[in-house]
Amino acid sequence: LKLHTIATQKGKLYFGTATDNPELTNTAYTAILNDKTMFGQITAGNSMKWDATEPSRGVFTFTNGDVIANLAKKNGQLLRGHNCVWHQQLPSWVASGTFTKADLLSVVQNHCGTLVGHYKGQVSPSLTWSSSEIMNDDGTLRQDVFSKTTGTDFIATAFRAARAADPNAKLYANDFNIEGPGAKSTAYQNLVKTLKSEGVPIDGIGMQAHFIVGALPANIQQNIQAFVNLGVEVAITELDIRMTLPATSALLAQQQKDYQTVIAACNAVKGCVGVTVWDFTDKFSWVPGTFAGQGAACPWDENLQEKPAFTGIVNGF
Ligand code: XIL
Repeated sequence: LKLHTIATQKGKLYFGTATDNPELTNTAYTAILNDKTMFGQITAGNSMKWDATEPSRGVFTFTNGDVIANLAKKNGQLLRGHNCVWHQQLPSWVASGTFTKADLLSVVQNHCGTLVGHYKGQVSPSLTWSSSEIMNDDGTLRQDVFSKTTGTDFIATAFRAARAADPNAKLYANDFNIEGPGAKSTAYQNLVKTLKSEGVPIDGIGMQAHFIVGALPANIQQNIQAFVNLGVEVAITELDIRMTLPATSALLAQQQKDYQTVIAACNAVKGCVGVTVWDFTDKFSWVPGTFAGQGAACPWDENLQEKPAFTGIVNGF
């Protein structure tokens, strides 16, 4: 069974996965990754981020990002650009720099414009770019290097620079804990309304969906619909569902149900355009390195075998 084929049969644009440059030397892994009937879309897990692409001011390096973009092109896969502006994985000249507001806005404009411009038209029909994690869980603006100096102005600057650099690329705001209703989702709905009223280009909302087995938010489908009702599309951009190790058959069975629930929620809303898993195998998942004692979050296990979660995805569509 092939996930991208199944997703497109249900009217979705794609089923996709994140990947990362060091993984590409593993041929058992790439045999699955490169199958466009399994994954019709890929996202660079790290190599298009700010620290990777503009390590010094005005000095751009796209070597590793280009490897991912060229792989997508060769495989006939869509590409999601990730990301323009984010408070993590910043080079120190941004993270610890001292800027006036005008200077920092020009830094954001130059970064987003150059990055998005570099990948303009490289993958058809559309490249999607995200900015990331600009809100706190209570719906207030995250206090990061960008907001401390520019307030909310960096948001419009980033989106406008990206639009100007590639008018055909879809522009998303991407975050976690906006998959279900709550203060943070409400704040993002207000952001969509504000940006639209100000003529700032925003095309979509990316729901990361880094979940915990047995602890999904309620009403994901209704929440996706609430965003779509505002005139933006929605994508599930970084799905994984982690558990406290060791994995047991009971946890894996619950994980199957949880994957099915998330997929079914996206599947039920026409404006939910696709789902991306944050890598497809436990062998390369970011989870164990970030959440101590947790893992087994992906639909393929460490030996690249499909898990019950894979069946959950199939059943969700
Ligand atoms: C993660 C990568 O997968 C890791 O390899 C890296 O060390 C840290 O970042 N939200 C995001 C992604 O938007 O970019 C993050 O990716 C996971 C959380």
